[in-house]
Amino acid sequence: MDAILQVRNLTKVYRLKRGLLKRENLYALKDVSLEVRRGEVLGVVGESGSGKTTLGKIVLRLERPTSGEVLFEGKDVFELGKEYTRMVSVIFQDPRNSLNPRMKVREIVEEPLLVHGEKERRKKVETALERVMLDPSFMERKPDDLSGGQRQRVAIARAIVLKPKLIVADEPTASLDVSVQSEILKLFKSLKEEGIAFIFISHDIRVIERIADRVAVLYGGRVMEVGEKEEVLKKPLHPYTKFLLSNVPVRHPKERRPFDFQEVEYKIPEKGCPFAPRCPEYLEECSLSVRRSELNGRVVYCNLY
Ligand SMILES: Nc1ncnc2c1ncn2[C@@H]1O[C@H](COP(=O)(O)OP(=O)(O)O)[C@@H](O)[C@H]1O
Ligand SMILES: [Mg+2]
Repeated sequence: MDAILQVRNLTKVYRLKRGLLKRENLYALKDVSLEVRRGEVLGVVGESGSGKTTLGKIVLRLERPTSGEVLFEGKDVFELGKEYTRMVSVIFQDPRNSLNPRMKVREIVEEPLLVHGEKERRKKVETALERVMLDPSFMERKPDDLSGGQRQRVAIARAIVLKPKLIVADEPTASLDVSVQSEILKLFKSLKEEGIAFIFISHDIRVIERIADRVAVLYGGRVMEVGEKEEVLKKPLHPYTKFLLSNVPVRHPKERRPFDFQEVEYKIPEKGCPFAPRCPEYLEECSLSVRRSELNGRVVYCNLY
């Protein structure tokens, strides 16, 4: 097992104002431990608010954890210098916001090369654009005259131009039409073949199913289960994973599965399993604590196991 990135007991607390004097702790992440292996795609899936983006931001050092640590090749990422941004890059959901509209494509893709004092920049920009299948004529264009898919290709070119070992991709296809989404997923797969590892974040389990090698399911800032994709999605252990799978939109109404959960806003309890208030297999102990089990290489945080 060759981990390139290790996330250990990561907790991120936001202090929220509640009225004039009251403050409340919001655990965006609570005691999250994960690893990304060299060259793999770790899919991170969970509903909106489950802590996916916070996890990505901390890995990218855009946020500081409240406690816990992130190690890249064994070293604390917050102690590494600029070299970390050479090895780890990012692709955000909406290239409309992540690409500077005043810059030309050439300048956007060149920027990381300038930051790291690279030579032969023009050649490297060309190679990166070629890699994402954008014609060199795109170099002089600006994000506003590109389609959503083309803009995301530019963002990918920028993310790969320094040949990173790991890319954090936060909902990188969520703003795209289905057919374009498919093209971009193919591109991600081909980058993976070249040995780049990914933390691939998505609320859409169908996207995760297409791209991930292993899957981590998040809910309420906690890991529910982690394991090989085939295991987690074909034989889910955690009731929350079963819930996500039963909610996958189907193409035909006849394929729809019975739905036995209610669509209500649930408050995440401070103690025990965050999913306890919604869980059809709830046990009394779930409101107090959660047990971590390892079953054939899978990790599940659930008192049923
Ligand atoms: N800067 C912030 N201040 C306060 N709360 C935040 C902040 N960023 C995220 N949160 C909260 O943390 C939780 C997790 O958010 P996020 O990581 O964005 O989830 P996801 O990406 O899975 O939708 C949410 O409840 C969100 O409202
Ligand atoms: Mg998010």
